[in-house]
Amino acid sequence: MKSYTVAELLNSETLLQEVTVKGWVRTFRANRFIALNDGSTINNIQCVVDFENTNEDTLKRIGTGASLAIKGELIESQGKGQKVEIKVQEVTILGDADPEEVHKTVMQPRKHSLEFLREQAHLRTRTNTFSAVMRLRSSLSFAIHKYFNDNGFYYMHAPIVTGSDAEGAGEMFRVTTLDPKNPPLDEDGNVDYSQDFFGKETNLTVSGQLEAETYAMSLGKVYTFGPTFRAENSNTSRHLAEFWMIEPEVAFMDLAGNMDLAEDFMKSVLSYVLEKNPDDLAFLENRLIQEDKTKPQAERNEMTLTEKLRFVIDNNFKRVSYTEAIDILRNSKPNKKKKFKYLINEWGADLQSEHERFLVEKHFKCPVILFDYPANIKAFYMRLNEDEKTVRAMDILFPGIGEIVGGSQREERLDVLKEKMAALDIPEEELWWYLELRKYGTAVHSGFGLGFERLVMFVTGMSNIRDVIPYPRTPQNAEF
Ligand code: 4AD
Ligand code: MG
Repeated sequence: MKSYTVAELLNSETLLQEVTVKGWVRTFRANRFIALNDGSTINNIQCVVDFENTNEDTLKRIGTGASLAIKGELIESQGKGQKVEIKVQEVTILGDADPEEVHKTVMQPRKHSLEFLREQAHLRTRTNTFSAVMRLRSSLSFAIHKYFNDNGFYYMHAPIVTGSDAEGAGEMFRVTTLDPKNPPLDEDGNVDYSQDFFGKETNLTVSGQLEAETYAMSLGKVYTFGPTFRAENSNTSRHLAEFWMIEPEVAFMDLAGNMDLAEDFMKSVLSYVLEKNPDDLAFLENRLIQEDKTKPQAERNEMTLTEKLRFVIDNNFKRVSYTEAIDILRNSKPNKKKKFKYLINEWGADLQSEHERFLVEKHFKCPVILFDYPANIKAFYMRLNEDEKTVRAMDILFPGIGEIVGGSQREERLDVLKEKMAALDIPEEELWWYLELRKYGTAVHSGFGLGFERLVMFVTGMSNIRDVIPYPRTPQNAEF
């Protein structure tokens, strides 16, 4: 007998006489109807047990969460709600799920809070919501690789252990093999990292950009897609201590080209999942519609999930300079009525999430690319503009998310880069290799970083970043 996945059976063009399918019981009704799921699709296949021919012990053990092998015939469904079903000939229990234990876990067939499910991260993909999110996460990562592969980029694996702080924000996790109780000390009483594993201080990377730049300057177009780590103690619904970032880097491309690339790329991956994952999106869309019904009118979503994705694909991202954005914000209602937590008084202010969301959700009502930020609120490597006050930075802001992409044209002039590093007390010895790129055939180049989990949040409509990664790492939380 041939083995099939649930997806293959539900999509089968023909009825099939002899099939085997393995999966987990979602529900078992009236001692007769098993809803079986194997992860291949959000939909379950209904398996109808002939209780007269099934022994009593087996029948008792078919409970929510148990794993089964089912043999039978794929027939036209006798009931409503599905096109086909399996007329079961034989049920084999592969793994029991003790009903007492089931009662304490996500396996219990009822609606659970997302918070409760987070405490059961090892089991939560047995729920419809999380399995849909994780299938979309997988699909999105494939779409990303496909986009770059189709467009002549090379996939570059940036190192995870590094000696430099790419973003200069100092929010790094140290990597060491020294004994924390008894580290070797130098003459001044400081920890002597020359005796550490790598002979110097090292940390987990906050970004693969600097390393990607070196490869863009030989391979032309590269991208990284890997884990990045930030020890920022911000317990928000949009920050993780370990998250995945996609960082393309392209030689001979300026900031305008960078914006074009980012916009085309985002639209392409969204189109891919709209086409490939309609069932999961429909499920999540409906979930949001149900959730909206419990909220006051003002807090409800104006668009459904798929309308929102379509809207981003079909409309141009609005490109606005930082200076224009500050004017808009300064004159905005929430600023005048002191509704913002951080009021915008003058040019130079760093934008907070409340401001970004005002621009995207209330003012422009579409994705926005903000560019030409003040130099002193952005990283050292961004190219200084002629005004010597602003840099060629760009942030892409999405509705409901805020900043989803951060990027820039890079400073390719050796003297300007050195001055900038000196001003920020970044030792040249630390980044000598990065400076060398500016000595041997330097060129205009640009790139950006997309926060993968923020993209998954946008696509799935999940409102907490912890719910779009298999095992979230946040302050005080690394249980499994
Ligand atoms: O804006 P960021 O810090 O930019 C960089 O790291 C550059 N080196 C990128 C580049 O030009 N190659 O981070 C990029 C994106 C942010 O826009 C955000 O989406 C995401 O990474 N991000 C986080 N996502 C989850 N948790 C965090 N703690 C994040 N920090 C940044
Ligand atoms: Mg940023």
